[in-house]
Amino acid sequence: MERQSWLSQLLYTGAAVGGAACAAVAARNLQRVLRARSRIKVLLAASAGTDARVVITGATGGIGQELAEQLLRNPSVHLLLGCRDHLKAQRLFQSSERTKVHRLDLLDPDSVQAFADEAHLFLAGGESGLRMLVNNAGVMRPPVSQSKGDSTWQTNFLGPFLLTELLARLRQKQQPSPVRVVHVSSRLEKRSQLDHHLLDAVTRGEVGENPYADSKRGLMLWTGIPRLWNVQAFCFLCVVREVHRACELR
Ligand SMILES: NC(=O)c1ccc[n+]([C@@H]2O[C@H](COP(=O)([O-])OP(=O)(O)OC[C@H]3O[C@@H](n4cnc5c(N)ncnc54)[C@H](OP(=O)(O)O)[C@@H]3O)[C@@H](O)[C@H]2O)c1
Repeated sequence: MERQSWLSQLLYTGAAVGGAACAAVAARNLQRVLRARSRIKVLLAASAGTDARVVITGATGGIGQELAEQLLRNPSVHLLLGCRDHLKAQRLFQSSERTKVHRLDLLDPDSVQAFADEAHLFLAGGESGLRMLVNNAGVMRPPVSQSKGDSTWQTNFLGPFLLTELLARLRQKQQPSPVRVVHVSSRLEKRSQLDHHLLDAVTRGEVGENPYADSKRGLMLWTGIPRLWNVQAFCFLCVVREVHRACELR
């Protein structure tokens, strides 16, 4: 009997400590979200200009949807959202007249090409203001049905690479002013062991053990290459700060 009450007391204490820890983590995360929202508001007020145009990939949920919603709070922001499930995106943003949705499947090069053309027209139009592309869409574990071995690389690296390069070339021809590009990477890229052997294997379709970390590392390495126009790669947890830096370059 005594042992039973000792056990239940232990369980009770464990549950109380666990509950308090969860509450503390939730409070800290909430604080971070609120801080990020208020920073976005402040930076847009300073950098949007009269007609800010931002392209975001993958805005049917998660970070992309939240970013789109926060950007739309500024009345000078117009958005073009590239989404695989464009009907879902249309439903989510149907109340916003300043949002256009276009189909984009990063696994399909034709779809990326068509979206790059659309994004170019969108960014070239309107009055002066911030011009930005946020390569947000990504996958950690692609659905089994899609897994031909390289769909993580295709979604996280090849798709954004193709989109960004196509857009850069289109803009360079007609529009010398740069577009700011933010790639949503991940802290997990630190686990990558990408080297030229692995890269060669990837091109043969042998993606190794950690395609998520490797594809995000690839994204950051490519972005680090100096070029004529401005591309910047940033880690997910710093998205707001880095969007801020990109805006400050205007
Ligand atoms: N959440 C995290 O903790 C975390 C941490 C570090 C980095 N990240 C990075 O942050 C980004 C967003 O993550 P999230 O957590 O917000 O993910 P999420 O909620 O799963 O959203 C991912 C978005 O990408 C889209 N997408 C996936 N595959 C696509 C494809 N082939 N073509 C076009 N769109 C595609 C999804 O569209 P569908 O609705 O059609 O699937 C969805 O809109 C990713 O790049 C991810 O790697 C996230």
